[in-house]
Amino acid sequence: MLTPLSGPTVIRPLTLADCARFPPAFAVQGWDEPEAKFRRYLGEVEAGERAALVAEWAGELGGYVTVLWKSPYEAFRAAGIPEISDLNVLAAYRRRGLATALLDEAERLIAERSPIAGLGVGLYPDYGPAQILYARRGYVPDGRGVCYGGRPVLGGATIRLDDDALLFLTRRLR
Ligand SMILES: CC(C)(COP(=O)(O)OP(=O)(O)OC[C@H]1O[C@@H](n2cnc3c(N)ncnc32)[C@H](O)[C@@H]1OP(=O)(O)O)[C@@H](O)C(=O)NCCC(=O)NCCS
Repeated sequence: MLTPLSGPTVIRPLTLADCARFPPAFAVQGWDEPEAKFRRYLGEVEAGERAALVAEWAGELGGYVTVLWKSPYEAFRAAGIPEISDLNVLAAYRRRGLATALLDEAERLIAERSPIAGLGVGLYPDYGPAQILYARRGYVPDGRGVCYGGRPVLGGATIRLDDDALLFLTRRLR
């Protein structure tokens, strides 16, 4: 599958070559995105557990997203809702529609199997752009409140606002 869009954006599956190319590209912005993670994703694609898509901008790596067919989040897994997981666009390529193009393709793949797509978004300011992106796209909270490590946080509880604190959202695709 190769999705040439109007303009310089191409969406295509993750390849072995990408696994070595992404880490130095993210290192430029000071982010540690290890080759082993991308290789694990490829293995999970081959095992049928995950889809992994790459966005190119004018032939350069711009970002990636994956889809977990069985979500680790119990509520999604029980309802058969695939989870969009690890959407990431390199800082140098943001606000050019790459995340939108990646999500378009991820949702197209999901819609072949499920009428609903799900995802989790973080709560602290680094996730602000993603919160706006998902809200504008029509994702709504799943109604279970904030989760920590996949479990709902009850009223009055104290949690650390790190990457394990997520609000899960869904979007009806069809
Ligand atoms: C969130 C992220 C993936 C967005 O990628 P992107 O390619 O810049 O997104 P797009 O260009 O497709 O933006 C689509 C829309 O989202 C909204 N949006 C995206 N970034 C925004 C920002 N910084 N401020 C306000 N709105 C923003 C806008 O409505 C935008 O449309 P517009 O540019 O026409 O106004 C990117 O900022 C990123 O990788 N952030 C760090 C990792 C992350 O948070 N991933 C998500 C984990 S849940």
